[in-house]
Amino acid sequence: MTDGGRSGGPVFSSAGGAAAGAAAAAGPGSAAVPGPGPTAPPAQGLTAAQRPGSGPAPGPAPAEAPALAVLASGRGSNFVAIAEAVRRGDLPMRLALVLSDVPGAPVLERAAEFGVPTVVVEPAAARDETGRYSRRRYGDLVLEELLRRGVEYVALAGFMRLLGGELLRRYAGRIVNIHPSLLPAFPGLEPQRQALEYGVCVTGCTVHLVDEGMDTGPIIAQRAVPVEPGDTVETLTARILEAEHDLYWRALKRLATEKFVLDGRRVKFVSPAGRE
Ligand code: GAR
Repeated sequence: MTDGGRSGGPVFSSAGGAAAGAAAAAGPGSAAVPGPGPTAPPAQGLTAAQRPGSGPAPGPAPAEAPALAVLASGRGSNFVAIAEAVRRGDLPMRLALVLSDVPGAPVLERAAEFGVPTVVVEPAAARDETGRYSRRRYGDLVLEELLRRGVEYVALAGFMRLLGGELLRRYAGRIVNIHPSLLPAFPGLEPQRQALEYGVCVTGCTVHLVDEGMDTGPIIAQRAVPVEPGDTVETLTARILEAEHDLYWRALKRLATEKFVLDGRRVKFVSPAGRE
């Protein structure tokens, strides 16, 4: 695939084109990630009874909406924000799966409240021949679950584990992460504490493509959050989280509905007419 000679980088396009893009990225002989098929779960259908006080029941996402999996290890507030955007009709995706590496993680309960299927892939299942944890093997187990559900896009939302191998190759351009800092500042653990200790006046959050590194992939979207005098880790974390909840679904929407080209590290969204 080409981008019309503009940047020389790969082109990633939405929906059906995304699968084709992944197949191209994976090279000859590799199959595109399948779209929703007969084994895909029913479209997300949340009843008011399942989520008390949450207003009217949503209409089911159209069956042709691209299938999204959310990977999360903990609380799941970003999952909820994404699920609510789907339910409002703001995010044209279908939640096909929530996958966690932590049995009993609160996000699994949040997913059940939204009627989204869940699976736990335990790190203990991902040992290599020597019995040691293998990142590649873990990625393979996750990939199996995604393919089983016809997942087209993957959103890491507080998933505290590095991924690798075939999974990243198959989902190239369609797997993203959110991180609570303005990357490349403060990657890794406790970025809000790092920001406060460094003394920055502005921090924020970043949605980026996932690569083999920790919080290192090309940037899709960022939102700045000022540090207020008197901020604690808790108050700053809460304000950044609010920004995350609005930023993530908007970034996912662009991913699902627009094409982009990668020009080095730069993600350039291209209008339908082919102009940036
Ligand atoms: C979010 O702040 C997310 O950005 C962060 O974990 C939190 C998960 O909260 N992710 C990372 O730090 C990844 N490097 P949530 O479970 O309530 O969505």
